[in-house]
Amino acid sequence: MVNLFDRSFVFVVGKGGVGKTTVSTALALSAARRGKRVLVAMCNAKERLSHLLEVEPIGPHNCEVMPGIDAVNMVPKYALEEYGLMVLKVRTVYKAIFENRFVAAFLRGTPGLEAWSMLGKAYYHTKEEDEFGAKRYDLVILDAPATGHGLEMLRVPQVITDIAPPGLLRNEAEQALELFRDPARGGVVLVTLPEDMPVNETLELHHALGTELAMPVTQLVINSVYPALFDQMQCEACLSVADALPAGSPLTSLVAASRARALRERMQATAIRRLAAELPIPTTTLPHLFMPDFRRSAVESLSHLFG
Ligand SMILES: Nc1ncnc2c1ncn2[C@@H]1O[C@H](COP(=O)(O)OP(=O)(O)OP(=O)(O)O)[C@@H](O)[C@H]1O
Ligand SMILES: [Mg+2]
Repeated sequence: MVNLFDRSFVFVVGKGGVGKTTVSTALALSAARRGKRVLVAMCNAKERLSHLLEVEPIGPHNCEVMPGIDAVNMVPKYALEEYGLMVLKVRTVYKAIFENRFVAAFLRGTPGLEAWSMLGKAYYHTKEEDEFGAKRYDLVILDAPATGHGLEMLRVPQVITDIAPPGLLRNEAEQALELFRDPARGGVVLVTLPEDMPVNETLELHHALGTELAMPVTQLVINSVYPALFDQMQCEACLSVADALPAGSPLTSLVAASRARALRERMQATAIRRLAAELPIPTTTLPHLFMPDFRRSAVESLSHLFG
């Protein structure tokens, strides 16, 4: 299988709050270490990447955040204009096409156009060249919106291909779709937590990606895994000892804490077993970081777990 870092476009998807931005940032750091030029594209997000990397807030235009890593927080309005200009090259042509009232009416009525303006821009950067004809980016990482919206966004190129009249917009969507579905160049990284609900959602998402969207899922990331303190017997003991404790025992808090930890470990072990059984794809496990607010050095340490 083609290494994740040798692809041109990777979607990082998952339920809200599971760690998509953390994983996108760690992947970018790992790719940059391998000498790749990377763009991390966020979708009109309350972005956390700048906080993680300890840099200035990321705006709607691509900017370098570290050597080898650019980032952008795409906003539909700017993205559409920028994308239109990038594809059409000349402002007068852009104006003639996008500001034509028939085209404008079509665009307003096109479902998913906002999403496409961002996705199209991100896709365009995979083929963008500098003045010497060299590719500007080796890898574009799209930090997707949380599951519902993320899926909606992934559906958009197909919608455009189905409904747009033949022409530039449809050609672009078709080419993007071809890239996203190419197992050698595209790929989806699924991020989850080792808990019941996120695992259910991950399995559903994986199913939709395979059956409906025909997009290759290249990697599963199980984020925020607690290190195991107890083996199975100790786990059972922690769970049963709480009931055996006499009322008012000075050990009450200690036992309650061990019980909570044992429950967590049991739940995550079940979740990890389920994922392994149902999603036989390369998997990276990231540890839970026990700090209230982690930043650059911590995300650097996570990035090394991607090799
Ligand atoms: N491995 C980890 N250990 C501890 N905390 C983590 C870990 N990964 C993420 N977090 C915390 O979880 C929260 C959500 O992380 P992150 O922003 O990466 O998720 P997200 O999926 O991008 O969220 P959203 O759907 O809101 O964009 C953050 O507060 C982050 O600090
Ligand atoms: Mg995020």
